[in-house]
Amino acid sequence: MSTYQEVFENNRKWVEENTQRDPDFFRRLADHQDPDFLFIGCADSRVPANEIMGLDPGDVFVHRNVANLVVNTDINAQSVIQYGVANLDVKHIIVCGHYGCGGVAAAMQPADLGLLNGWLREIRDVYRLHQKELDAIKDTDARYRRLIELNVQEQCVNVIKTAVVQKTYLRTGHPTVHGWVYDISNGLLRDLEIPFGKILERIQEIYRLEAT
Ligand code: CO
Repeated sequence: MSTYQEVFENNRKWVEENTQRDPDFFRRLADHQDPDFLFIGCADSRVPANEIMGLDPGDVFVHRNVANLVVNTDINAQSVIQYGVANLDVKHIIVCGHYGCGGVAAAMQPADLGLLNGWLREIRDVYRLHQKELDAIKDTDARYRRLIELNVQEQCVNVIKTAVVQKTYLRTGHPTVHGWVYDISNGLLRDLEIPFGKILERIQEIYRLEAT
């Protein structure tokens, strides 16, 4: 762990290293950004988007919150999706959950968590949608892991429900939406391979926001 002052020393070293490696590094970044990926992940300090993807500054547009939720009335997440798709023209949107997620663990407890109740209810809603499957898993840890995966899947569905994603995809063939889970115990990413095309078709039966 670094002290407060060390952060600024780290920063100067990082600037030096990058400038030595590539003298145009910061000049190029100052000019514009052109990321192919929008990453929606958990605020957990152990899930640093760029690092786990091995990508540089400028490569990933990032939104993070507790338990990687995409809520219809959350103007923050919705604005990130709108800007990422309409202005930055990202090719892939990733919802990335992680095993060991404290937000999902909290939602599995029958406790009043004050201000967090409304936020974590989104995860309890995921549980309700998949209650049959989840209740059938007797091992608590296995059930917890499955809820983390199903939460990612449902948040992908929420991304696909947005008008900007539906309209842009039908016009241009992108962005594609992916669900990932990051394993904090070994650093590996897992692609849940959610059936994007099928979900989009099903979503459009009910949530179509593109005039025909
Ligand atoms: Co988390």
